[in-house]
Amino acid sequence: MSFIETIAAKRDGRVNTKEQLKALAKGAADGTIPDYQLSAWLMAAFIKGLNPQETADLTLAMAHSGERLDLSGLPKPWLDKHSTGGVGDKTTLVVLPILAACGVTMVKMSGRGLGITGGTIDKLESIPGFRTDLTPEEMVAQAKRIGIALSGQTPRLAPADKALYALRDVTGTVASIPLITASILSKKIAGGADTVVLDVKCGSGAFMKTLPEAQALARSLVDTGKLCGLKISAVITDMDEPLGLAVGNALEVEEAVSVLSQPEAMLPRPTRRFRSLCIELAGHALEVVGRGDRVTAEESLESAAFAKFREWVSAQGGRLGEGAGQVTHTTVTHMGDSGWVERIDAAAIGQLVVDMGGGRKEKDDTIDPSVGLLLLVNVGDEVEADMPLARIVHRPGQDVSLAEAAVRAAVIVSPRRSQPSTTILDTVH
Ligand code: URA
Repeated sequence: MSFIETIAAKRDGRVNTKEQLKALAKGAADGTIPDYQLSAWLMAAFIKGLNPQETADLTLAMAHSGERLDLSGLPKPWLDKHSTGGVGDKTTLVVLPILAACGVTMVKMSGRGLGITGGTIDKLESIPGFRTDLTPEEMVAQAKRIGIALSGQTPRLAPADKALYALRDVTGTVASIPLITASILSKKIAGGADTVVLDVKCGSGAFMKTLPEAQALARSLVDTGKLCGLKISAVITDMDEPLGLAVGNALEVEEAVSVLSQPEAMLPRPTRRFRSLCIELAGHALEVVGRGDRVTAEESLESAAFAKFREWVSAQGGRLGEGAGQVTHTTVTHMGDSGWVERIDAAAIGQLVVDMGGGRKEKDDTIDPSVGLLLLVNVGDEVEADMPLARIVHRPGQDVSLAEAAVRAAVIVSPRRSQPSTTILDTVH
């Protein structure tokens, strides 16, 4: 069977068979199909789409293109939580320990930041010593010991995704719902998951900018997951304004630690909004695995989750509380008339942190984990002239005049009273 037939079928809008998609994943993983042919197929699939069965067949073919983690020796339930990525999204750092402390085994592969959206691996690497390169054997052993293990993508699991993703990135074929679906779910299945809870982000700081787009992605992920034999559901959550107070790797870890270690009343308002989303997501996950609900999640957060977080960080070699170098703060105040915060442009805030060195512009850029932004207001807040809007956290001597202007442009204040934004927009089962 020639791969040219697979490409031509998709080009003409015909269905690719399971065998064709298996051969594609195998050829992508072992390098026997050349990049130009894979790229041609990716563009044909981007334009003509894949039907639900093809998406499931591609997902399974990619999942089985390498090894698969064997979790069979670990206590059930097992759960994988995945976010499609956003600005200030550090929910994994709080939700994983909440769930692990409730007896749910959490094994997870995470990614690095992509564009303006941060990545859990970058956030955890801001903790001195934290290892994000666990081998599959180390992941399973650690999860058995403490109920939680998280690593970066290893080349041994779903290698077809690694090859196809790298090509999509440079051929304008990332934003395809079936290709995103197969990419995300193949890694979950290769990671051994049987139950998955997805946090599909929606808004200016996410891949999916509108609710109908986010619903379409969530529907595709849930339907494909079920065809692949997963227990799966998705929560669609707001990413029109950044999540929480902090945007920037080390700052986000600090904010997650504050949620884990401090009573709600001591937290600033943007952090309370983040905390409430963590409880909702963890509560949803506990309902899915029959271990409780949002009340159980909040009890876990207030009692056992911080100890579990510290156990997790120390198991992966991390040393909490060791700073990553000297930083200073510049406060940005509101300069216009008083009013209400109508919008905070998450995409602009994400971009400004990337521009300060907190994210990557090129694949191999080194990031500065210490820099970022603390947003002191939420949508719906009343502000007056000279009130602080944000604190820019930067290196001493770093020029932040552009960042100050970017914050002022991103926080839109209007004379009309506005309402706080909703965090949970929809749930897809
Ligand atoms: N995350 C993934 O893992 N794959 C995609 O295609 C998009 C986001």
